[in-house]
Amino acid sequence: MITMKKSPERDFIILNLTDPQMRNEEWEEGHEHRRIFTDTVTELVDRVHPDLITLSGDVADAGQYAAYEALADFMDRFAIPWAPIWGNHDNQYGPEAVERVVEGYENHPYFLYERGDAALGNGNYVIRIEEEGKIIEGLILMDTHHTISYTNAEGKNCRALDKLWPEQLSWYERQIRALADEGCTDTTLIIHIPIHAYRLASQAVFRDDINIRQAPLEMFLSGECQREAYPESVGVQFDAVNTPMADDGVMDVITRLHSTKTIIAGHDHKNTWMIPYQGVRLAYGLKTGAGCYYDPRLNGGTVIRVTSDGVAEVSHEFVDMTPAGEQG
Ligand SMILES: [Fe+2]
Repeated sequence: MITMKKSPERDFIILNLTDPQMRNEEWEEGHEHRRIFTDTVTELVDRVHPDLITLSGDVADAGQYAAYEALADFMDRFAIPWAPIWGNHDNQYGPEAVERVVEGYENHPYFLYERGDAALGNGNYVIRIEEEGKIIEGLILMDTHHTISYTNAEGKNCRALDKLWPEQLSWYERQIRALADEGCTDTTLIIHIPIHAYRLASQAVFRDDINIRQAPLEMFLSGECQREAYPESVGVQFDAVNTPMADDGVMDVITRLHSTKTIIAGHDHKNTWMIPYQGVRLAYGLKTGAGCYYDPRLNGGTVIRVTSDGVAEVSHEFVDMTPAGEQG
């Protein structure tokens, strides 16, 4: 069990980074993507002084062991605990490849992680935040795996994104009940592949009479891309919302237990939105760095500010990487 202490004098700041997803060569000295990632994270740490850094998956690409190690060396320099989960790209060579990364990471002093029950995937664990002996916030970090294969209506073999499995939802419920027994009723779920409810929330909020993926950033910022009934939703959706196609049942469990108020997901690098949906803040973490693909205007990290009463605010910190002269 991992417990971190919050000082009563100040807020506990979590900085979430997502989808660095760099390959070995991108971490080599002098590579532009190395500079973008390290400058971005250094700027974020200087700005928000986090107590904890979480990484919501696609830390690198499976098998890119030098990239994983380079990231860990870099993260340790801040002397701030950093806690990863794994994305589909981390998981794509199976649990052995993840285990090899974890064994390397265990030599890093600021690496924070628990393997959890291997039957539930690679790394499902809880970080409890304690203030003066009371648990005020629980972070539930879960593995959304890689892909699953299925046969479509035409009898073709297809692959789709995996999801939180039913036995993981049972595990989640046990963690929520254990936290509640200790007086903690505010929790945050950190995952990589968004849950199915993200798809429904997006459909509810964004207009379907315009092609929003082609809309300029300004249209999102002015609220023109979303329906008037959802003024509290904010952010951009330049990517598809890549969730499991069928209902994964996650939202039913969450709304029944009334504990998780915020979900942070990664995976869709150019989606930044946060939507209050059925009493839960469904949020994309802001993509960190240029690995795989990114929009230089939508680069940075996400700050989760925890007070004595739990999470008070979730906000993106943008580090604009648009080349000078192109900024408008
Ligand atoms: Fe991903």
